[in-house]
Amino acid sequence: MAKADSFDSERWGRVPCVGLAMALTLTLGGEAIAQTAAAGAPGEADTTPTFSRDVAPILQRSCQHCHQPTGIAPMSLLSYRDARPWARSIQDKVERRLMPPWHLDTTVGIQDYKNDISLTEAEIDTIVRWVDAGAPEGDQADLPGPLEFPRADAWQVETALGRPPDFIVRSTPYTVVANGQDQWWEPQVEFEGFDEPRYIRAAEFKPSFPGGMKVAHHGHAMLRGQDPAEGEARPPSVRLVGMGIGKRFDLLPEGVGKLLPPGPATVRFNLHYFPVGEEITDVIDVGVWLYPAGEVPSKITAGERQFYVDGTHRERLRASDILIPPHGSLVLEDQYVMEQPALLQSFRPHMHMRGTEMSMTALYPDGRRELLSSVNRYDHNWQIAYVYDDDAQPLLPQGTVLMLRAKWDNSAANRINPDPDQWVVFGARGVDEMSHAWIGITYLNDAEYEELAVARAAADTETSP
Ligand code: HEC
Repeated sequence: MAKADSFDSERWGRVPCVGLAMALTLTLGGEAIAQTAAAGAPGEADTTPTFSRDVAPILQRSCQHCHQPTGIAPMSLLSYRDARPWARSIQDKVERRLMPPWHLDTTVGIQDYKNDISLTEAEIDTIVRWVDAGAPEGDQADLPGPLEFPRADAWQVETALGRPPDFIVRSTPYTVVANGQDQWWEPQVEFEGFDEPRYIRAAEFKPSFPGGMKVAHHGHAMLRGQDPAEGEARPPSVRLVGMGIGKRFDLLPEGVGKLLPPGPATVRFNLHYFPVGEEITDVIDVGVWLYPAGEVPSKITAGERQFYVDGTHRERLRASDILIPPHGSLVLEDQYVMEQPALLQSFRPHMHMRGTEMSMTALYPDGRRELLSSVNRYDHNWQIAYVYDDDAQPLLPQGTVLMLRAKWDNSAANRINPDPDQWVVFGARGVDEMSHAWIGITYLNDAEYEELAVARAAADTETSP
């Protein structure tokens, strides 16, 4: 995969620069150009983006946390030396909005997300012009100070919250074969539990480093209370955390928590691996951060819940509604009526290799229809949670219909389609299909809903002219 792009600025980048330098020499003389350019005077020479001044800050913000020696990306983009051989490939991926991985339609729906790493049109333009100009380095004095990155096997939530997890649950090891189809591993681990109810602030799913991080495609960990005594109800199961490439943890806002019922429990892992050409043994650690003992957060959330678009939740055969002909396409829709008001925190579509789009639309009780989020460049290699800014979280009154729409493309135009000549049906392998969204959802009572609706309306009048 990490094939170096043969980028030759000598050959295809120089010509326009030479022409420009000659034109300026005629009017200003060689010395003067060097000085005006260094002083940043306006003029044509100055608008050519350089790595040091214009590109490095973009790479720092949107690329380097993955593209660094211990990151998940195939190559480092820390320095000019690292980035230059990849210039043409960078231009291509950035222009087509394939990198950084953010597959949301940026022209419709909500655009305020906590984890938005997408580039602005101006940033894309800067990178494109930089490469077109021969990817010049510029003056090293313009470089921003280097960033420091936590080790790839550090807890990402620890970096955010400043403290290690309160407890860690470790799966039993599994060896992924070097070559083959998808593999599943569903170990169960006993958890002694707490004597009192506790509330989860965050949880993180950490494959082993470096091997596990290459093969762990997605998975989740569920905590299920042990069999209750005669006549007692089983405590509710808790989904600790779900992981997919590009998404490893759930961190709830301060004051929002997920209930961890007291007592011993079993943690069930559901792990989906994909072989990468070498045999790799992995163990998964799930770290959990709690609110202090005795503290009850003001809002209790259900966390990420699974909303199916295929027929799984209906009384019909699961495979019956996904049947995609060779070179064909399919659209499925499903809807959920909110029986309680709700606040949405995040949207994470899940399909497989033929999946190309998933959108979520709210049909409000007053008849208004609002497209909330549309992932229109879905890529099975990535499982990204789009996490709404606090003020942008969709607030759904009781009776709202939440509509989900999934689209598959089994043609050769789908660049990760393994074989457009196949019929595609429902199944758990990446070459089969499924569709659901993991939606971060907090159900509200009427008073909580009213309070939020009033606060939102007040904020709207303040900001509108
Ligand atoms: C969330 C992690 C992440 C971020 C952020 C990210 N990348 Fe990547 N990048 C990857 C991974 C993983 C791959 C290999 C798999 C793929 O192509 O999807 C990759 C592949 C690439 C490739 C293709 C490499 C090849 O083998 O051909 C380029 C070029 C690239 N990234 C550039 C960028 C640029 C430029 C940015 C920022 C503007 C960026 N990436 C941001 C993780 C990331």
